[in-house]
Amino acid sequence: MDRRFEGRTAVIVGGASGIGELTARRIASGGGCVVIADVNEEAAGKIANSICAAGGCAWSIACDVRRREDVEKVRDFALEKTGSLDILVHTAGGASQRMCNAPGPFAERPYDVLDWGIDVNLKGPLYFARAVIGKMLEQKRGVIILLGSIDGVTGSAPSCDYSTAKAGLIGLTKSLALIGAEHNVRTCCVSPGPVLTRPGMAAMKTPMNRAAEVHEVVDVILFLASDQASFITGVNYLVDGGRACGAQEYNI
Ligand SMILES: NC(=O)c1ccc[n+]([C@@H]2O[C@H](COP(=O)([O-])OP(=O)(O)OC[C@H]3O[C@@H](n4cnc5c(N)ncnc54)[C@H](O)[C@@H]3O)[C@@H](O)[C@H]2O)c1
Repeated sequence: MDRRFEGRTAVIVGGASGIGELTARRIASGGGCVVIADVNEEAAGKIANSICAAGGCAWSIACDVRRREDVEKVRDFALEKTGSLDILVHTAGGASQRMCNAPGPFAERPYDVLDWGIDVNLKGPLYFARAVIGKMLEQKRGVIILLGSIDGVTGSAPSCDYSTAKAGLIGLTKSLALIGAEHNVRTCCVSPGPVLTRPGMAAMKTPMNRAAEVHEVVDVILFLASDQASFITGVNYLVDGGRACGAQEYNI
């Protein structure tokens, strides 16, 4: 039985759906306590309840990562419930043109949609990192996992603000790694190609001729969040079926 996360408290930001949801479920089944923080309060609550019903340890809390006071509220909630904060996985995010239903080209994209793309995908992780790292440094134990994207590595014409934000996470990862290294606080970024959190992702091409199953990304997150990765920090992991190698060929 996997008990890699026994005694650990993990905050999963964006844990009400997709990659974040499976990460929360797997950390809980691995013995950890999870705090599911999401703007979708109802879905987060249902997932926390189902984890508890299966014998796990979970709470949910409403959080919009664009609001600094929400970010600090999540940090304080986790500490109040468990006394420690060992793992932060920031999965909240997505392409602004999809999330805000603004499919036009970059030159016509409304400024508030661009703001959403940067605020949720880049400033949210920055705020969360700032909120939790002090406690992690004090504990001399902690792991931060940020969810990037292949688009942050290759660029993306349809997702200009998204790729900008996701590229920024790579810099944030390296900076946090330097801040935390001598205090046993690690930071890694996981950058997926297409993942089957939505059926539409199956249409995105990769050299492996398929998109990732959600667990293929979550398995990497769990490895990096666990002590098995105790000497790994500051790294961006591509989980993209080789898509970055063939960026030109795949007309990205
Ligand atoms: N699915 C993919 O193909 C894919 C590919 C590359 C990168 N990613 C990245 O992986 C991460 C997770 O993707 P997913 O497919 O699981 O997404 P998802 O849409 O299934 O889940 C995202 C979660 O974030 C929450 N969220 C959105 N805005 C928020 C806000 N302002 N504050 C708090 N929570 C908010 C949503 O409610 C949702 O529960 C994202 O950062 C995404 O950019 C996904």
